[in-house]
Amino acid sequence: MHETPDRDGPRNMEEAEDIGSSPDTNPTMGDIIAERMSRRDLIGGLLAVSAISTTVVPLALTAAGPAAAQRAGPSPSPADSTTPSFPFKELAAGADERAHVAEGYDAQVLIRWGDKVVRNAPPFEPKKLSAAAQAQQFGYNNDFLGYIPLGGSSRRGLLVVNHEYVNRELMFSNVRSDDSHRPGRITKEMAQVEMMGHGGSVIEIARAQGRWNVVETSRFNRRITAETEMRIAGPAAGHPLMRTNADPTGTRVHGMLSNCAGGITPWGTWLTCEENINFYFWGKAEGLPNEKALRRYGIPGNWYNWGTYFDRFALEKEPQEANRFGWVVEIDPHDPTSMPIKRTALGRFKHEGAGNVVNRDGRFVVYSGDDERFDYVYKFVSEGRVNPGNRAANRDILDKGTLYVARFDADGTGQWLALVHGEDKLTAEHGFRDQGEVLIHARLAADARGATRMDRPEDIEVNPRTGKVYVMLTSNDRRTDAQKDAANPRGPNRFGHIIEIIPDGGDHAVSRFRWEMLVKCGDPAIAEVGATFNPATSRDGWFGMPDNAYVDADGRLWIATDGNSQRSTGRTDGIWAMETEGKARGTAKLFFRVPYGAEMCGPMMTPDMTTMFVSVQHPGEGTGPGGPSSFDKPSTRWPDFMPDMPPRPSVVAIRKRGGGKIGT
Ligand code: FEO
Ligand code: CA
Ligand code: CA
Ligand code: CA
Repeated sequence: MHETPDRDGPRNMEEAEDIGSSPDTNPTMGDIIAERMSRRDLIGGLLAVSAISTTVVPLALTAAGPAAAQRAGPSPSPADSTTPSFPFKELAAGADERAHVAEGYDAQVLIRWGDKVVRNAPPFEPKKLSAAAQAQQFGYNNDFLGYIPLGGSSRRGLLVVNHEYVNRELMFSNVRSDDSHRPGRITKEMAQVEMMGHGGSVIEIARAQGRWNVVETSRFNRRITAETEMRIAGPAAGHPLMRTNADPTGTRVHGMLSNCAGGITPWGTWLTCEENINFYFWGKAEGLPNEKALRRYGIPGNWYNWGTYFDRFALEKEPQEANRFGWVVEIDPHDPTSMPIKRTALGRFKHEGAGNVVNRDGRFVVYSGDDERFDYVYKFVSEGRVNPGNRAANRDILDKGTLYVARFDADGTGQWLALVHGEDKLTAEHGFRDQGEVLIHARLAADARGATRMDRPEDIEVNPRTGKVYVMLTSNDRRTDAQKDAANPRGPNRFGHIIEIIPDGGDHAVSRFRWEMLVKCGDPAIAEVGATFNPATSRDGWFGMPDNAYVDADGRLWIATDGNSQRSTGRTDGIWAMETEGKARGTAKLFFRVPYGAEMCGPMMTPDMTTMFVSVQHPGEGTGPGGPSSFDKPSTRWPDFMPDMPPRPSVVAIRKRGGGKIGT
C-alpha cells in the first residue's frame, strides 16, 4: 500500500480511517537513544555526525557529514570503485510520465492489467469492464513477483504475481477513489470487477531472441481472485473464532485479499501475504463481542463497499469473517488445480512478505513484517525439517512450528519472543484461550510480550551468503520525538530506514540476535533529515521509503521503494542497488524508475541473473502535475500511451543489452 504526502485530500486508503495500532506501553527507550546513537552508527561504517544531529547536536556540526560530502564534489563516475558490486552507469533520478532504466539496459513490458491470463480470456476493453472478463485477465496492482524456473531454466518458468488492490478512480470513468461512501456510485457489478481484480496470477513465460513472452496456451496459467476457494490449515483451522454462517467448520474461505509481498519456498511453492485486510470490511466494530481485537486490526476500514452487496464483508452480519484474512497463503503453481492454503501457524497480521531460509539444521524459517505504524517484526520457525529431495514431504511443513516477535534492545542485541500459549501473559486469564487464539490475535499476543514497536515493517529478506537479514522500515509519520528508540531513531520518521539482523552464530532458529543500522533514508544533503547513506552515494542514489527487497544469487541487495514522488523526494519510486559490505557499505545507486503515481514492487531475477522482473504498481495514482489523476484525466497513460487507454499496472522484464548479469 502506497502512502504519499501529495495526494488530493483523504482519498487514499490509509488516510481513510483510523488504523489500529499497538499500544504505547512497550518501552520506547527514548532516554538511552543518545548512548545508542554514539555507538551503533559508527559501527555501521557511516558518519555518526549527521545521525546525532537529528537528536542532540546543532545542525552546524553536520558540515563534516554525508551532506557535506554530497555537496563537495560531482557524482562518482561509474569507473570509481565506490560501488564494486554494481558497476552499471547510474540512472538519473527524476519524475515524469515514463519508466526509465539505466543506460545499456532494455525494459520490456511483459504483461499488463487486462491482458489474457487464462486461455480464451476475452480481450481487454477498458470502457466495458466485466467481472467475468477480469476473472480471466491479469489483475490490478501487481506487487510481489516470483520466478519459479521450469527444469531449472532461466529461459522458461512460472511467474507468480500478487494483485494487491485496485484503484477504482483509474479503472472506471467518472469515479473517485472514495466513492464507496457516495450512495449508488459503486454498483454491485463494479464491486465484482474490483473483487476479480484482486488475488494473484500464475503465468508461464518463456524467452526467445532476448524477449520474454507469456505462453498463452500454458496449462499452468491461472487466476486467483477474491472468490477462489481456499483451505485454512494449521493451529487456527476450525477454531471457534474462524467459523461463519457460510462455513461452520472454520476451515474453508473464499479469496485472499490485499496480497502485497511474498516469497518462494525451496520446494517451489508461492507464499503470498495478505496485508491491508481491514479495508474490505464494512460497518462498525462498536458493540461487537470481538470489538477490541477488531480495533487492534483497524477493522472495519470501510474502503471497499463489498459488504453492502455480500454479507461476509458486512461486519455486523459476519463479525468473524475478518479473522479468516491476514494470513500467509501457500499456493502450488505447478498444480493449476491445487487449492490455496492459508497457513495459520505463521500468525495473523498485515503480512508484508515472507522472506525465508532453510536453517542449517534443516528447519524452515520465514520472516515477515507487519506493515502498520508501530507494529512488529516476526519470524516463524518450523518444527519439521525441509526435505530437499522430495517436494511432497514439505507439503505441510508450515503447519507446525513457533511464531516469534522481535524485541530490539538498545545495546545492539535483540530477542525473539515466542508467541506460545501458556507462556508469559499468553494465558486464558489474559484473553488467550488457546494457541489458535494467540495466532488469530497475533498482534495482541505480541503486545503482551513487549515487542518493539517499529516504523512500518515491510519486506524482510535473508542473504543466504552472509546469514544477515535485511528489514525494510518504510516510514512512520506518527512517531513523536518522545517515542524514538534505538531501532527507530527518528520521530517523525518520514523516509524510513533499513536494519540488519545478524542471528547469533548464523543460526536463524535461535532467539538471540545482534542488529545494525544499514541506512537511514532520505536526502543526505538536508542535514535535518539525518540520512546516513555512504557519502559515495550520488544525488541520484539516495531514496526514501524502502518497501520490497531482493537478494540475488550473488548476495547483492536490491531495494524497491513506495512513496517517493515529486513532492516527497523530487523523484519517483524505483529500484536502487545497495552495497552492504566493506567500505562501500551503505552506497545506493539508481537502476530503474517508475512513471508518475506508481510504486515499485517485485523485484526478482532469473537464477542466472540475466533478467530482472519488476512490478510497476498503480501508475497514475494520486495527484500529478495536472491535478488529481483519474481514468478520464490520468497523470500518465503508461505503458500504452494511447488516447483512450488508462494507465495499466504492468510487469516489466529488464535485460542487459547484448546479455549479461544485471547490475554490471
Ligand atoms: Fe502493500 Fe506494505 O506495502
Ligand atoms: Ca503495494
Ligand atoms: Ca508500502
Ligand atoms: Ca509493499
